[in-house]
Amino acid sequence: MTSISAVPAPATSAWRLMDPPHPSSIDDPAAWAYRGIAELDAASGTADLGNADAAQTPLAILVAMNNQDYRRRLRQVAVVDAPEGPRVVGSALLSLFVRSNPELAVGFVVVHPEYRRQGIGTALVEWFRTTAQAEGRTSVLAPVDFGSEGADGETLAPASGIGTVSADLPGVRLAQKLGLKLQLVERRSRIDLPVAPDAVSRFEAEARAVAGDAYRVHTWTAPTPDEWIEQYAALEQALSDDEPRGGLEVESDVWDADRLRVEEATIAAKGDRYVVTAAEHVATGELAAMTMLLWNAEKPDHTDQESTVVLKAHRGHRLGMLVKAVNLREHARLRPEAQRIYTWNNEENPHMLAINIALGFRPAGGSAEFQGPL
Ligand SMILES: CC(C)(COP(=O)(O)OP(=O)(O)OC[C@H]1O[C@@H](n2cnc3c(N)ncnc32)[C@H](O)[C@@H]1OP(=O)(O)O)[C@@H](O)C(=O)NCCC(=O)NCCS
Repeated sequence: MTSISAVPAPATSAWRLMDPPHPSSIDDPAAWAYRGIAELDAASGTADLGNADAAQTPLAILVAMNNQDYRRRLRQVAVVDAPEGPRVVGSALLSLFVRSNPELAVGFVVVHPEYRRQGIGTALVEWFRTTAQAEGRTSVLAPVDFGSEGADGETLAPASGIGTVSADLPGVRLAQKLGLKLQLVERRSRIDLPVAPDAVSRFEAEARAVAGDAYRVHTWTAPTPDEWIEQYAALEQALSDDEPRGGLEVESDVWDADRLRVEEATIAAKGDRYVVTAAEHVATGELAAMTMLLWNAEKPDHTDQESTVVLKAHRGHRLGMLVKAVNLREHARLRPEAQRIYTWNNEENPHMLAINIALGFRPAGGSAEFQGPL
């Protein structure tokens, strides 16, 4: 975590805000802004989170801007002029749900560590506010990511009292200055690879002993087989409906097979790959549980844990552990070079946390979710 005293002295230079150009190819020279945002995210991630794992590639940023059927995205950058052209030193992303949450504007603002405390963040927030209002939004959700646990100084907790974040973080200060309230803390956990194969086998065997013959597992990489696509969408819908959200006022989103196919095309275009393990209830043919691990082909070091869900009617049979253990085994086979996996859990979701802790995931920072009127 970056304490305030660790923030480098600001570089003094004239900056200005602008709309980033949007070329159709990342190889187009006009893609300089997306390359700049990726570099900025990497620099900020290294300073604030300890490494650049969470930074997207320029291609992934462009592909997300090209795919706005389910999430609209508007961007603004702060640039300084350099001899080789404009350099991105700040960025704001306004993300809008398309099929749900008509009042909500989700915001991400980041400023290069060497250019902080010059008012760039404030200017980007002002762009965000004006643009979101013009889009008819009245509520803002702003996540502030942090890199490690155990803040020394003053901490902040949501109304539930579950989870804390350092009150000293610049993003937390900014959110509070804007009058936003901390509504939820998500924990990021990390497991260093490889996980000992016998430990994975033991977890799988223990889970299978409880689940018995009533369930069988299926593992696949892209594309999701046609026979499972509808049920897979139903599992995503169940996750969106059931996930505890603390004090956040966010509606569940809408999932169906068409959306999954669009997401899959986007994943492929970004250079992302995944492996899914699902559990089928043998008697009914219903998919009762699933989990996904996702990675980018250009980022060999790490993998992200995406959705994991067990349908309510099938809980209590160790299916969460079963699908996760099998998926970890498959991931090790497909991607032996990976050094670590990250997972995100709501601090108010003890069952999911317990599974991850048992597997060997350890706390590695998180995200403080602030919300309030725009
Ligand atoms: C938060 C962040 C965007 C602020 O960018 P910035 O250009 O330094 O912001 P500004 O100079 O406009 O400062 C805005 C306000 O933020 C707060 N703030 C930011 N950094 C602070 C610090 N180091 N100490 C105390 N307050 C700070 C202050 O309230 C400040 O207002 P003030 O100068 O009137 O006191 C930047 O620190 C950053 O990129 N952090 C990492 C990403 C993040 O947390 N983003 C926010 C979540 S979306």
